[in-house]
Amino acid sequence: MVKNTWLAVALLVSVGAGSLMIHNVVFANTKPKEPSFAKNLQVLTFLKSKQQLKGWMHMIKTSLGVNCDYCHNTNNFASDAKPPKRIARVMLKMLVQIRKDYFAFPNAQKPTCFTCHQGHKKPVNAPAEGFKGFPGQI
Ligand code: HEC
Ligand code: HEC
Repeated sequence: MVKNTWLAVALLVSVGAGSLMIHNVVFANTKPKEPSFAKNLQVLTFLKSKQQLKGWMHMIKTSLGVNCDYCHNTNNFASDAKPPKRIARVMLKMLVQIRKDYFAFPNAQKPTCFTCHQGHKKPVNAPAEGFKGFPGQI
């Protein structure tokens, strides 16, 4: 009897796990809910308004010292055609993660794109002299 009960429990658990797997297979490809004010946000999906999106875009523009059209076709902001936009998305992902994971302590001055870029398209490189022998990889 005890043995059968355990069998039943094991069966229930595995059926549960199975349906969870099916659930994941069916729904894994559904995109995260898109904010209504944009068509192609993949990182900034947590934003609540167009105003907040503007704030982020102006931060990016100022940090790199560029205009919106450096990354965007200004007739179609959702387009990913320009390579700098695609790189910027990777950078955004990094920045959001850093801000969340490493600057969650009270009153943290959270990094922005400016922290590294300082108004340049590419961050200014390291002083050659002091970095002699520093291996580039990891
Ligand atoms: C360095 C590149 C870069 C610059 C400069 C930039 N953006 Fe963006 N922008 C992005 C990236 C990357 C995304 C997509 C973010 C995501 O996937 O969450 C985006 C998304 C957007 C979107 C949402 C489009 C949609 O429907 O999906 C708008 C609108 C936008 N930017 C406007 C602007 C404006 C206005 C400026 C200038 C003030 C600007 N951007 C400057 C990189 C940039
Ligand atoms: C931790 C430092 C760091 C931060 C923060 C950072 N970047 Fe970068 N970024 C770099 C470095 C380093 C490069 C140069 C990489 C290369 O091209 O070899 C770069 C390159 C780029 C490029 C490509 C430039 C080119 O001419 O090829 C874009 C676009 C860019 N960053 C956008 C952004 C945006 C937008 C943000 C903020 C969301 C950001 N970055 C935040 C370090 C950073």
